[in-house]
Amino acid sequence: MKNELHADRILIVDFGSQVTQLIARRVRESGVYCEIHPFNAVTADMVRAFDPKGIILSGGPATVTEATTPRAPDELFEMNLPVFGICYGEQTMVSQLGGAVTLSDEREFGRAHVDITDDCVLFEGVWKSGENHQVWMSHGDRIDQLPNGFRAVATTESAPFAAIANDDKQFYAVQFHPEVVHTPDGAKLISNFTHKVCGCGGDWTMSAFKDEAIQKIRDQVGSGRVICGLSGGVDSSVVAVLLHEAIGDQLTCVFVDHGLMRMNEADEVVTLFKDHYKIPLVHKDVSEMFIGKLTGVSDPEKKRKIIGGLFIDVFEAEAKKIGGADFLAQGTLYPDVIESVSFTGGPSVTIKSHHNVGGLPERMNMQLVEPLRELFKDEVRDLGRELGLPDSFVGRHPFPGPGLAIRMPGAIQPEKLDVLRKADAIYLDEIRKAGLYDEIWQAFAVLLPVQTVGVMGDARTYDNVCALRAVTSTDGMTADVYPFTPEFLGRVSNRIINEVQGINRIVYDCTSKPPGTIEWE
Ligand code: XMP
Repeated sequence: MKNELHADRILIVDFGSQVTQLIARRVRESGVYCEIHPFNAVTADMVRAFDPKGIILSGGPATVTEATTPRAPDELFEMNLPVFGICYGEQTMVSQLGGAVTLSDEREFGRAHVDITDDCVLFEGVWKSGENHQVWMSHGDRIDQLPNGFRAVATTESAPFAAIANDDKQFYAVQFHPEVVHTPDGAKLISNFTHKVCGCGGDWTMSAFKDEAIQKIRDQVGSGRVICGLSGGVDSSVVAVLLHEAIGDQLTCVFVDHGLMRMNEADEVVTLFKDHYKIPLVHKDVSEMFIGKLTGVSDPEKKRKIIGGLFIDVFEAEAKKIGGADFLAQGTLYPDVIESVSFTGGPSVTIKSHHNVGGLPERMNMQLVEPLRELFKDEVRDLGRELGLPDSFVGRHPFPGPGLAIRMPGAIQPEKLDVLRKADAIYLDEIRKAGLYDEIWQAFAVLLPVQTVGVMGDARTYDNVCALRAVTSTDGMTADVYPFTPEFLGRVSNRIINEVQGINRIVYDCTSKPPGTIEWE
């Protein structure tokens, strides 16, 4: 169903790039709604039904120099719609429109500089002919000959057609990646495409989304009852407040307190929702039961299964106590529903069993309410601000459902949970004091089942090792290690060892994802 908010929309055709989601985020940031669809699901009929104002062809790992690699449907270039090709998207556009692409000996990966050789609508207000600008390249193919009607507007030494334009057809393409931050002006180029080329307005805002979402929730729920599992994380908090604005006391939130939360977290959740927002909240403290069942368990998958199973049992029992519900609200986000292109083929292996309320809707005969299904995480945060949620909730680092249980490798020792909580709180306190919290996707302490010898004062110590983890990421799928200064790490290490009894050594985890995962278990 289309309406104002979704009227001006962009279709992103996914050829399997690692960063396709970033294209969508840049388009959304320009105030325009967009969706990502895999290239093999895009047909002329699908495009007509979707009715976009323009199309973006993403990058991808394939080479157009092979006959069987992905293509856009040829009709897509005959629909009188603007098209913007990025990297592989440029190569397939050129190849499909009659130009020549070859596999280059000179592959370009990483930072590069483009010379702007001509004016172009994509560059308006940012780049001028004769200037030189930094971009991010990642390609092996090279364009040797442009199709009819195209001109080059930017070049690099190894990519003579780094940006090309066919103004009559409104076809534009770049060899580099404008969607990544390493192309500092890239967002502006994408915004020029959505607004100046495609003529989209800027209707996609979280304020407009909020109003529409509230109406949709009312239409879906009617006078039904909704239950929502609150975890203290950003997504479930935003869902709860949004639903409460939409349907008031038809909503009940259930907070299953498994005793594996961080320092003061359970109190903060209860205070905010029950006392401040006056949202009907069932606070079920089942920490003893959870920790009883987990004590001594060391297998990571077993920990997750025990927690997931108990969580569902408690949630279901509480839902029944309040007389049941017709709907279950969930904080499903857009990245969870995008059907992304997999070039490895076959179902992907389960790395970790994520803990959620899976299976519950069927068991309890409830329908799902998922008001955040169209949003990226940063949009959820904006929506949270729009709803008046405090920054301390909206800006929170993600926290896994199984909580501290998966930050204590080896056997769960209840008496050690507080040691871990204290170390974690000091680490986050120092990160906040240094003004680094918002730069980091996730930071936390892990208590290792390893004891080492130390010396404090004149005495020998034999205590646990604590590992610190901090990563930057855009979606949690890949992550880079946060580069703290040695001074910062030294300060945190001193404080933890001095203030937390039971830890005498700190190590910093410098593993990116892949090959590591963000959590240790
Ligand atoms: P990994 O460790 O797989 O984590 O690299 C990626 C992101 O997911 C979070 N995570 C979870 N979130 N339930 C959740 O709600 C879980 O069981 C779970 N396990 C990991 C993790 O904190 C990171 O943000």
